[in-house]
Amino acid sequence: MAIELNEILDKDELVFEEIVFLLNLKEKDDLDKLYKKAYQIKEKYCGRKVYYRGLIEYSNICAKNCYYCGIRKDNENNDRYAMTDAEVIETAVIADKYEYASVVIQAGEREDKAFVDKINYFLKTIKEKTAGKIGITLSVGEQTDEVFKEFFENGAHRYLLRIETTNRDLYRKLHPEDHSFDRRMECLKSLQKNGYQTGTGVMIGFPFQTVEDMARDLMFFREFDIDMVGMGPYIEHEGTPLYQYRDMLAPKKERLEMALKMIAVLRIMMKDINIAAATALQAIDPVGRERGLAAGANVIMPNLTPTKYREGYQLYEDKPCMDEEAGQCRNCLAARIKTVGDEIGYGEWGDSKHYYNRIGK
Ligand code: 5AD
Ligand code: SF4
Ligand code: FES
Repeated sequence: MAIELNEILDKDELVFEEIVFLLNLKEKDDLDKLYKKAYQIKEKYCGRKVYYRGLIEYSNICAKNCYYCGIRKDNENNDRYAMTDAEVIETAVIADKYEYASVVIQAGEREDKAFVDKINYFLKTIKEKTAGKIGITLSVGEQTDEVFKEFFENGAHRYLLRIETTNRDLYRKLHPEDHSFDRRMECLKSLQKNGYQTGTGVMIGFPFQTVEDMARDLMFFREFDIDMVGMGPYIEHEGTPLYQYRDMLAPKKERLEMALKMIAVLRIMMKDINIAAATALQAIDPVGRERGLAAGANVIMPNLTPTKYREGYQLYEDKPCMDEEAGQCRNCLAARIKTVGDEIGYGEWGDSKHYYNRIGK
């Protein structure tokens, strides 16, 4: 067994059975070996730096109804908000002051003109007010090719759109009929074509999902030549339809361990991409994000959303940093990252190296 593991860890290109084998590891010694290997690869190809993306949760108004998400349209136990223009711009300026170098604007999905115009306004104004210094990632869901193009022209250079699962049947179990798997794929292609550093991801450990499904998710990232991945454990939310299947779930600790294994195996498979230590890791374990970094992740998204709105943006339960101001998280995170032995890439965009290798620059 041990020999087999060592052999697999030294391979350049993992095949399906090997990925499944790694995702099934359970013994502490084996897991330590896997995480150590992934960390070494991160160190070699990406350095020991962690890059920040200051997270601005602009609005929890969502036109969609994903069965797992706490801010789905039909969840009425949720006060809907949108940050004011001034708050969004000010928050981006704070990110600049903190030397975070990059922000992510995230919101519930909307495709109406008012929303698209608003995002364009934010892009232009943030670029203007920070003299182009702040890199902007968008995470505002499916849009048309034209809109993606427009956002890119206005300064967005990265986009996150999680596929959630690459198994079509599971996708159906997670979403109502009118949410299309094919459209999501088309959007990812359109992002790549329009020049974005393209990010996607999946949820880990939701009802009906198997280890084989997760192995295929990882193979999809490789096939699609994705630049960035954010993936975290599924965490049940009482106000959602998927909650009825909570008895099927593995214990939270196991979902967390599986998420860490997914990060580590992906790092071995795709050495130069950016991988985020998702906030959901920390909803399960107080040091979940640090464990993500130790397993090969190199990006963290400190929450910059004004605290008065945080209650409203609970996609899942037990989200961390609900009351901490941006400044508190800045100090807290710095101390946490030190424990892993990583440095913080203050003032650096920390672009995905894979992106430049992919486009041949
Ligand atoms: N548990 C974990 N992650 C979730 N997300 C939404 N709901 C949940 C949940 N219950 C994730 C989805 C989405 C991202 C913004 O948040 O993957 O793409
Ligand atoms: Fe809306 Fe995204 Fe939540 Fe789906 S996961 S309901 S699109 S915010
Ligand atoms: Fe927010 Fe620690 S990172 S309080």
